[in-house]
Amino acid sequence: MLRVDPAAPSAEALAEAAEALRAGALVAFPTETVYGLGADARSAPAVGRIFTAKSRPDDNPLIVHIESLAAAETVAAWVPPLARQLAGRWWPGPLTLVLEADPSMPAETTGGLSTVAVRVPAHPVALALLRTVEIPVAAPSANRSGRPSPTTAQHVLDDLGDTVDLVIDGGECSVGVESTVVDARGEQPIVLREGAVTREHLGLGSDGRELDEREAARSPGTRYRHYAPACRVELVPTGDGPGRATHLAQRGTAVGLIGFTPAPAPVHTIAVVRSVDDLARRLYGALRDAEEAGVDVVVVEAVPERGIGRAVMDRLRRAAAGDGSPSAGLSAPP
Ligand code: TXA
Ligand code: MG
Repeated sequence: MLRVDPAAPSAEALAEAAEALRAGALVAFPTETVYGLGADARSAPAVGRIFTAKSRPDDNPLIVHIESLAAAETVAAWVPPLARQLAGRWWPGPLTLVLEADPSMPAETTGGLSTVAVRVPAHPVALALLRTVEIPVAAPSANRSGRPSPTTAQHVLDDLGDTVDLVIDGGECSVGVESTVVDARGEQPIVLREGAVTREHLGLGSDGRELDEREAARSPGTRYRHYAPACRVELVPTGDGPGRATHLAQRGTAVGLIGFTPAPAPVHTIAVVRSVDDLARRLYGALRDAEEAGVDVVVVEAVPERGIGRAVMDRLRRAAAGDGSPSAGLSAPP
């Protein structure tokens, strides 16, 4: 583990990580969203090692991280006007653009699609690393496939251990949920995965509509089981958390709570959050903490489906369904 100053990583640390990436190694690094597991995006064998380390289905494409819009020209066949406009507004930041892939991109990186997903991350460590390494870096979230994404270097080690050659520890991620993925090839952005850059930010309005089948089919990752800790996750309406958790505890279940107010013992209050942003930031860590507390079920309070709340609810539904099904709704109150 290579510990760096999150705001100003040392040139020596960056040079070491860049050297490893250029040699085909796996390097985990912090981004503002979650930790990424990086490899040289142009190298099929290097990218192949990502899939092995994560046990990731090989038709699930990776996000290619670059240091600037100019660098997008080297991984995409072209950058259409909508993509230019979105990149100008949101890069560096938690927005991933799906573009027509440059033919030089290996099928391992694109999951065999004709498109490629690209993003310029805003975290000072990620950005400094990309500027130092001067190659595009493919990086999915640095968790084992199906697990909650890592928001600390320790989470990466817990999931992947020494299958990663180098883990850069740049502290806790500030956003906490993965980037918004947008198809930017047409006239209008099509949201393929919700994130911190919201529908409202993209001028799409928050109509509460689920991703339709056609859109989901275009983002292969949304098909798979996701974000599930070892314990069961139960999603309840805001305010119902302490009551539901206490009810379950009285029946002898070991129960954890993630919500806006604590509950008395024997409920394990795992996290008390102050806002939707706070929940987004702490959600994955709290799910891992619930697992470590050894609870059978963790009760999580829902949040309104607007702004980043849509991304949080998307992840929570998948964690609660356990099978990646976006159709699982709120469970009935006690
Ligand atoms: O915030 C993030 O995006 C983090 C950090 C490390 O940047 N990365 C991340 O990567 O979440 P990953 O692999 O866990 O999720 C990538 C998502 C998947 O849902 C994948 O299917 C989708 O992006 N994706 C990648 N390439 C695509 C493409 N060409 N077309 C459609 N969806 C694509
Ligand atoms: Mg992931």
